[in-house]
Amino acid sequence: MTPEESPYDASGFVPRGGGLGELREAARACHGCPLWARGTQTVFGQGPARARIMLVGEQPGDVEDQEGVPFVGPAGMLLDRCLAAAGIDRGEVYVTNAVKHFKWEPRGKRRIHSKPNAREVRACKPWLEAELGAVRPEVVVCLGATAAQSLLGAGFQVTRHRGEFVASPIAPLVTATIHPSAVLRQRDDAARQRERELLIADLRRVRERLAELRAAG
Ligand code: URA
Ligand code: SF4
Repeated sequence: MTPEESPYDASGFVPRGGGLGELREAARACHGCPLWARGTQTVFGQGPARARIMLVGEQPGDVEDQEGVPFVGPAGMLLDRCLAAAGIDRGEVYVTNAVKHFKWEPRGKRRIHSKPNAREVRACKPWLEAELGAVRPEVVVCLGATAAQSLLGAGFQVTRHRGEFVASPIAPLVTATIHPSAVLRQRDDAARQRERELLIADLRRVRERLAELRAAG
């Protein structure tokens, strides 16, 4: 087996049937793929164990890597404002990432985000599955292509199917929308504003579908 083919896999590090606290603790020691050596620490998901909504991002950014908490940097602040605008209480949301270590490349003194590849996403998926099993959310929202790739498969295109709800065994309601970082990357204020409104609209739909689900039953 060449190193290229060697299995990256977190599953050997994941305690069976563990609650969130146990999972979080075990994840600190994960060496399931080489990214453990590059990031400062494992950034595990955060939120109430009984959250109805789970949001899944890509991977921690620079700020998250230092603080050990997901979505606390610029993208996280934007996400918080969009959740509020959509009428979703941040307190009922569990936020996590498809990959739990920050992958970066040096550029001068800065650490530049580097997209996790398919092997790294696959390697880290057992943590995401364990979080899904522990929290059992009613709705899962993939934020961006990496989360969608992990949970919905490589064939799912966020640009084409954002905001649609797809049948999936992972939760009663599953959908995907753009990543808040994609809003921040737009070239001008008008484009940023437009993308922000679309993200809010997708999140508002999540709230409405969740209310319908509860009313039904
Ligand atoms: N982007 C993500 O996908 N996740 C974070 O936690 C922060 C930024
Ligand atoms: Fe483990 Fe995921 Fe970190 Fe890789 S990125 S070392 S699989 S926690």
